[in-house]
Amino acid sequence: MHYFVYKNDHLYCEDVSVSYVAEQIGTPFYLYSYSTIKRHFRVFEDAFNGLDHLTCFSVKSNSNLAILRLLASEGGGADIVSGGELFRAIKAGIAPDKIVYSGVGKTPEDMELALKSGIFMFNVESNQELQTLDKIAKDIGCKAPIAIRINPDVESKTHPYVVTGASENKFGIQIEDSLSAYALAKRLKHIDVKGISCHIGSQLTEIDPFVEALQKLKELLEALKKMGLDIKFLNLGGGLGITYNDEKPPHPLEYAGALRETMGDNNVTLILEPGRVITGNAGILVTRVLYTKSTKNKRFVIVDAGMNDLIRPALYNSFHAVQPVEMTHSEMLAADLVGPVCETGDFLAKDREMPAFKPGDLVAVMSAGAYSFSMASNYNSRPRPAEVMVKGNLLSVIRSREAYEDLISGETIPEFLE
Ligand code: LLP
Repeated sequence: MHYFVYKNDHLYCEDVSVSYVAEQIGTPFYLYSYSTIKRHFRVFEDAFNGLDHLTCFSVKSNSNLAILRLLASEGGGADIVSGGELFRAIKAGIAPDKIVYSGVGKTPEDMELALKSGIFMFNVESNQELQTLDKIAKDIGCKAPIAIRINPDVESKTHPYVVTGASENKFGIQIEDSLSAYALAKRLKHIDVKGISCHIGSQLTEIDPFVEALQKLKELLEALKKMGLDIKFLNLGGGLGITYNDEKPPHPLEYAGALRETMGDNNVTLILEPGRVITGNAGILVTRVLYTKSTKNKRFVIVDAGMNDLIRPALYNSFHAVQPVEMTHSEMLAADLVGPVCETGDFLAKDREMPAFKPGDLVAVMSAGAYSFSMASNYNSRPRPAEVMVKGNLLSVIRSREAYEDLISGETIPEFLE
């Protein structure tokens, strides 16, 4: 459920018409619904009511400060993967003791910053990382709280680029090697072992792989108890899918129900790292048609947003629904919705039945709240689009459109070229 609905054939985001926003700020832009984000977070949270848990929003899915602030005020923590995400999370007011830090390539500098900020724990992904973290904690004079990220080797049936929990992926430590990693962690004086973590993949539309992974974590928990390690936290990562087209992912209630059952009665807190399920369907990309043209066997609708603004179709062949902002079209035509970037892969929709768009029309590319702006780039020297949040009839530009000056900020022409 989201708050992008048609009223008298005009697309609205809550109480604001999308074309009004376009008039005010120009195109392209990302548009987020405050009430949708809040509702998605609450539904997810409430599904786990009664079970000891901590929800850490996955910042990489959407890292805008306003969105992080909204989730912070709902009591959410953060799952971060870089010093930059740590910086954002803290700026937005997320409590450091609700921040978990994953990633295979944490730099010593970022680890130090995270330790000094007092984050909740590191999800450590290799023995070398563990040793580096121990050394940094020693230098600071503290103990680093950690979970070891296990690669549980479960099949998650999603796009190969976003599978993370299979043995050929770079993530985590192989479950067979986990006992020796924990033994090392136990020996290291400046490491405080708190949990076990995993993340098996993204956009999962079935519950079984989650249950299977959680079972593996529980088995490991028992083995670690025998080693004398007091594990209090199991982190199952994120990954719950959403509907882009006709997918039927489990409702958070179903997901939470299955995990509750698998957890059983133990004194352990469950940590969750949802991203897409919170923001994915809470945002759209709005773009304007520049031109249309046809070749012998294809029609192209050329819009002012491209793969640099939304790379998911080009990168994963992902489906994003395409809708008119004003329902004025009587005819549907098959077309490719393409951007201005000089790449054949620059498309937002391919061979799709869509309204017979004409120049000047506004187009809404749906389900663009997660991994959309956060993956945008300046390729082709295109300024990144504005981001707007609507709450009821209130509208706020939460990130202004980049200017040409922003494109070159930080660049220098060396003296030897002058
Ligand atoms: N935790 C960890 C350690 C992760 O790596 C991820 C996502 C999440 C949590 C959140 O997963 P979610 O609940 O959003 O599925 N760019 C891709 C998705 C990459 C996901 C990377 N990791 C896409 O556009 O589909």
